[in-house]
Amino acid sequence: MIKTVSWSKGKVRIIDQTQLPAKLIYLDLSTLKEIGEAISSLKVRGAPAIGLTAALGVALQMKLSSAKNYREFRKEVEETIKYLSTRRPTAVNLFWGLKRMGKTLVRCKPVGDRIHPTRGLDKSSPYKGSSYINRLKKVLLNEALLIIRQDDEICGEIGRYGASLIKDNCHILTHCNAGGLATAGFGTALGAIFTAKEEGKKIRVYVDETRPLLQGARLTTWELKKYKIETILICDNMAGLIMKQKKIDLVIVGADRIAANGDTANKIGTYSLAILARAHKIPFYVAAPSSTFDLKIKSGEKIPIEERAEKEVSEPFGKRIAAKGTKVYNPAFDVTPAQFITAIITEKGVISPPFLKNIQEKLKK
Ligand code: MRU
Repeated sequence: MIKTVSWSKGKVRIIDQTQLPAKLIYLDLSTLKEIGEAISSLKVRGAPAIGLTAALGVALQMKLSSAKNYREFRKEVEETIKYLSTRRPTAVNLFWGLKRMGKTLVRCKPVGDRIHPTRGLDKSSPYKGSSYINRLKKVLLNEALLIIRQDDEICGEIGRYGASLIKDNCHILTHCNAGGLATAGFGTALGAIFTAKEEGKKIRVYVDETRPLLQGARLTTWELKKYKIETILICDNMAGLIMKQKKIDLVIVGADRIAANGDTANKIGTYSLAILARAHKIPFYVAAPSSTFDLKIKSGEKIPIEERAEKEVSEPFGKRIAAKGTKVYNPAFDVTPAQFITAIITEKGVISPPFLKNIQEKLKK
């Protein structure tokens, strides 16, 4: 399994995904600014992976803290969370990871002159002084590492549920990268494919190259090759034709944010795929952990869509492909209305329509 994000000798270690597939380079990030930059520049990307990186980023920043008491420490945590939450707007996992770190600290709040024994510290912890602050730092780091371990377990479950929908000799189409590189190491949509392969099923995967940053071509093909899965790369605009040619049995993609009614934000181009799949009567699955659901948002219209630099489209990877001065529109995500989604695969099971009711019920468990 890939280790997309980890803690190594007091630093946050990530794979620099902008260098793949040409080079597998690990970066050891040692400051909050480096973490923030790695998230905005997509050195680390994919909804769950940015949540995990941000959580470790909080632990990293607080390791450097010289706060003298809980109040000071908490203020610094809040500032760190505020900064990291501005790095990318669409994937709700970023905010989820940061919120979980904030809540962990709140659980360590002193009660009277002692720490509550169930709040992450042992009974005898004094609430002032460097030993207490050091314990808070440890609690935050442990929580971030726990989130990473849990992501592996969650992806394992998504993989199992997802694989149950994949038959032997299945031809699958996927978009962007919802693999190990987008999570702690196993993946959601690709996790289902890897599990099906481990179960002995023969699978062929068509991969959309995913303009403009080519996460499909650069990252998904790299991962599928590692798993020795038959892979066919296509340009995004070929999906309709191969569906018409009956080359595709199902589509499976990841998600960046799922509203309460099942509307799903994912990499730009997902919406068109879902419509094509419906027109050709092909099942369209979304695979995502429960941390990708944003039940406060009733429908997809409220999901903020990131707009990225014009250069990503007009000068991809440093090579100009459009006339100088051409205006560019570069939304990084789109929203697929729930009506085009056959089912959503989560670690808690497969959710079918009606989504509004079934999402609530499944996520409560
Ligand atoms: O801009 P990116 O590369 O972060 O976009 C990633 C995606 O759209 C993925 O499909 C999504 O985050 C799901 S990852 C399990």
